[in-house]
Amino acid sequence: MNAMYELTDVRQRYGARDALHIDALSVAPRSIVGVAGPNGSGKSTLLRILAFLERPVSGAVRFDGADVTQAGNGVRRRVTLLTQEPYLLKRSVAGNVGYGLKVRGEAMDEGRIAEALHMVGLAPESFARRPWRELSGGEAQRVALAARLILRPRVLLLDEPTASLDEESAERIKAAAKAAREEWGATVVIVSHDMDWLTSVSDTIVRMREGRLVRSEG
Ligand SMILES: Nc1ncnc2c1ncn2[C@@H]1O[C@H](COP(=O)(O)OP(=O)(O)OP(=O)(O)O)[C@@H](O)[C@H]1O
Ligand SMILES: [Mg+2]
Repeated sequence: MNAMYELTDVRQRYGARDALHIDALSVAPRSIVGVAGPNGSGKSTLLRILAFLERPVSGAVRFDGADVTQAGNGVRRRVTLLTQEPYLLKRSVAGNVGYGLKVRGEAMDEGRIAEALHMVGLAPESFARRPWRELSGGEAQRVALAARLILRPRVLLLDEPTASLDEESAERIKAAAKAAREEWGATVVIVSHDMDWLTSVSDTIVRMREGRLVRSEG
């Protein structure tokens, strides 16, 4: 089976700063890979490259068996990134969660919206109609995740998805990541500083330091 991602000698640089240098990284399909490492070690940079939001300055990225180093929008649609500080659109919770469907020309399906809210532990009866500004930080983060899950992406990239969540909500996110793998075969890459949580959700953990992978285990 093809690897979902195969990175070879991938470098990213911002001005004079080397942010990332991955010699080799392979991500198996349907795996849940945890990424750990100190602030500034390149974790978010790696996720943006895996999301095809940035092109590396050099190196090769293979995705699902194809060289996509120079690929465009087609491949981007198969991958979705929950950023470290997600923002919501100035609309209701249901409007936010269903927005991606609308963009893809699909109907705003109430049932699918409710299902996505359930996956992140938000009762649709009390949340679907709420305006975006009447949410706590942790609720907003979970709404942002539901807006990604509803698209059933091949790859789900989560940048510190539990940073502002309580323990119970963090457990929900873990269950949602595993459900994405079980239900539609998603490959999941998760950045987190919470090592216990990350270990409990991931098949493998890679550690980064100063832009490089230093160790992998699992
Ligand atoms: N857009 C940018 N312009 C310039 N430098 C950047 C940019 N994005 C990231 N960097 C730099 O690249 C390096 C890696 O940053 P990155 O955000 O990937 O780290 P991180 O591991 O996600 O850190 P954190 O745990 O704080 O989120 C850092 O030195 C950072 O200052
Ligand atoms: Mg980061």
